[in-house]
Amino acid sequence: MKSRLDAARAMLATPLAEPGSGRHRYGAAMTFYNAGLIGADVLEVYRTCANLDAEDPAAIMAERGLPDVAAASEDPAQKIAALAEAADRYLGTLPGPGVAEVRAGLAAVRPFAPHPQPVSPNPVVDAHLQTALDLLENTHPALAAAIAEAAPHLPWVTYDAYPRDLIGDAFATGHAFASIVGEASAIQARDYDLGLFLIAPRVLYRDHAHAAPELYAPLTGPHGWRFGPGLPMVTKPAHEPVWNDPHDPHATRVGDVPFLAVFGWTRDVNVPAYVIAADDWAELESA
Ligand SMILES: [Fe+2]
Repeated sequence: MKSRLDAARAMLATPLAEPGSGRHRYGAAMTFYNAGLIGADVLEVYRTCANLDAEDPAAIMAERGLPDVAAASEDPAQKIAALAEAADRYLGTLPGPGVAEVRAGLAAVRPFAPHPQPVSPNPVVDAHLQTALDLLENTHPALAAAIAEAAPHLPWVTYDAYPRDLIGDAFATGHAFASIVGEASAIQARDYDLGLFLIAPRVLYRDHAHAAPELYAPLTGPHGWRFGPGLPMVTKPAHEPVWNDPHDPHATRVGDVPFLAVFGWTRDVNVPAYVIAADDWAELESA
């Protein structure tokens, strides 16, 4: 995934006048365009130069006041804005309750002008994100590319506010989330949160609830879900969204592949979530 964009960067540097180099550069630019890293105006320059191997697209862009494509594709703010766009486009393809509310929150903060923050590496992301993106790339290559590009610049957190004895060690050390749009995020929004959520394979995110209405848009699957302690788990495939009304209990049992989702909280984001006891966690966690 990452390597496709790296390969595109290398291809942009093909020497001018090398036979076929114009088409190679256009192909590379298309990869950046599909990942949301350059605009249609920049892509158009590469298109017009596709059969003109000696023509320097950078000179034409400078003449037109367009951003240098290589520089634009390396800018963390641009990558985060591109991810917000890609997530919004993806949500727009989904059915069901909550999608419109989450998208309305995004519409309220357009145009996206991210201020990336200092971030630190997260071991759960290092261990599992690439596996999830390799799967996602098969069906949603542009979204997968946008996530791969922005992920190193997102404030990934392994949440520690749940009591450890209630939430269990496997979840406590086996998940990470990153806000993209929210109160302390690169893209600021009040009482709203949109981001990515990652959980290691075969981890049970035990029954819990919160005041915030919540959308999950799972990018991988299948995973198990239930909406009340003690109820049987139901299996849902990737791209089948889940909407949780305020204080509705829910639990997720991650399948054999890492759980990766876009999540949205549309209000009450500062009210802490709480675990709801169930007597079958041990059984579910050993299954
Ligand atoms: Fe939740």
